[in-house]
Amino acid sequence: MSVLFRKKSLEQLLNAANEKGLKKTLGAGSLVALGIGAIIGAGLFVRTAAASAEAAGSAVTLSFVVAAVGCLFAGLCYAEFASMIPIAGSAYTYAYATMGELVAWIIGWALIMEYALGAATVSIAWSEYLNHLLGGSIPYQWCHSPFETSAAGVHGIMNIPALFVLLLLSLLLIKGTQESAMVNAIIVFIKVAIVLVFIFIGWGFINPANHTPYLIPEGVEGHEGVFKHGWGGVLGGAAIVFFAFIGFDAVSTAAQEAKNPKKDMPIGILGSLLVCTILYILFSHVLTGVANWHEFEKAGKEASVAYAIHTYMMGYAWLGTAVTVAILAGFSSVILVMLMGQSRVFYSMAHDGLLPKIFSDLHPKFGTPYKSNIILFVFVGLFAGFVPGSVAGDLTSFGTLLAFVIVSAGVWIMRRSNPDIERPFRAPLVPLVPILGVLVCGGMIVALDITTLKAAILWMIIGFAVYFLYGKKNSKLN
Ligand code: ALA
Repeated sequence: MSVLFRKKSLEQLLNAANEKGLKKTLGAGSLVALGIGAIIGAGLFVRTAAASAEAAGSAVTLSFVVAAVGCLFAGLCYAEFASMIPIAGSAYTYAYATMGELVAWIIGWALIMEYALGAATVSIAWSEYLNHLLGGSIPYQWCHSPFETSAAGVHGIMNIPALFVLLLLSLLLIKGTQESAMVNAIIVFIKVAIVLVFIFIGWGFINPANHTPYLIPEGVEGHEGVFKHGWGGVLGGAAIVFFAFIGFDAVSTAAQEAKNPKKDMPIGILGSLLVCTILYILFSHVLTGVANWHEFEKAGKEASVAYAIHTYMMGYAWLGTAVTVAILAGFSSVILVMLMGQSRVFYSMAHDGLLPKIFSDLHPKFGTPYKSNIILFVFVGLFAGFVPGSVAGDLTSFGTLLAFVIVSAGVWIMRRSNPDIERPFRAPLVPLVPILGVLVCGGMIVALDITTLKAAILWMIIGFAVYFLYGKKNSKLN
């Protein structure tokens, strides 16, 4: 039994951090940009309207605040770990040091749901938007999975645009982390600029009547449930927009490539979370001020921002197109950072012997885990090309939330087991903050729908089989 709970000592971990391996090329600015790259995407551009129409009304701004507070608890814990143990594997590595090999394996396996399935989901959304931008000119069968059929009876064959964007970004990741970070920074600049332009111009088109009443009052048809109106609706909205924050933790997977992780990891993780929270609140305030939240019940949620611009902001049609470009750019950087995060988690797991060595082989010239990137492209591509997007979406939230719970608990455990080691960044109010992290994120897991939970449990059972057949025997700790 004890084999399952063997831990990596802190010395082993810190030695691994100093070994020659991944190149250290990322500064604080690149890390904040990586975070923003992974964070702003479908959550903001699609789920804001969905959350306001389904649950929160104009108070979707408050839903963003609630979700951000939940993420902040976990974010503080991530920041403490990432500055203390600057290793590539993020939550997986922290679990290895605090809760032992089996829990580490579980979280490593769950992170595949967050990063690999997250990348697949967003690449499918990317394909949808590209088709929008091109006026629907991509033939249905070449941008849908075989499990989908159009209203006219055309069967999907393969989602080629989704595969295309995955291939492009995988090649970029193989070329180099610094190059990837640079492309990411350009994308982040474009998407943040367009979000800001929408906020500034849209502010002048806010109709205060759309913000009154701010919360959905009791008795509105279709909003009978506890989480569908009033303050309950704000919470319901928070669960929907939580997706918009997924990704800040991906910064921690790049810890081993940070030039000065002790100082820069907390800046990267908490800085990107802060910037995005402010943008989200302003953006949702403007969106629900320009158009009334009722309209999002009918007007396509996917096209909610373009709808608000075209209907109420006369003379700004170009902004509608710009927003679509920002969305495409935004999705690309989300995919990029997710693919990068996944390959770094695999890198650490292979380094520890829990996965085959091929996942930690570095390219002789580029210094990137290129074989892992190629395998990952095939794996993620199978989902993106041949499975409908809705299947993978909520599993992404499950994997993320499980990681948040384990990282939060881990901080508390580590404070007790290793009270004296150097902590360049300390999460405040321990154990209160970790406990709240576990409760809030654990609560959100329970609130996920039952199909998602069943699929997640099936995935975890497969993971156990792989661990007992391969990882346990091959672990370097043997
Ligand atoms: N936070 C990312 C998004 O909203 C996953 O697309």
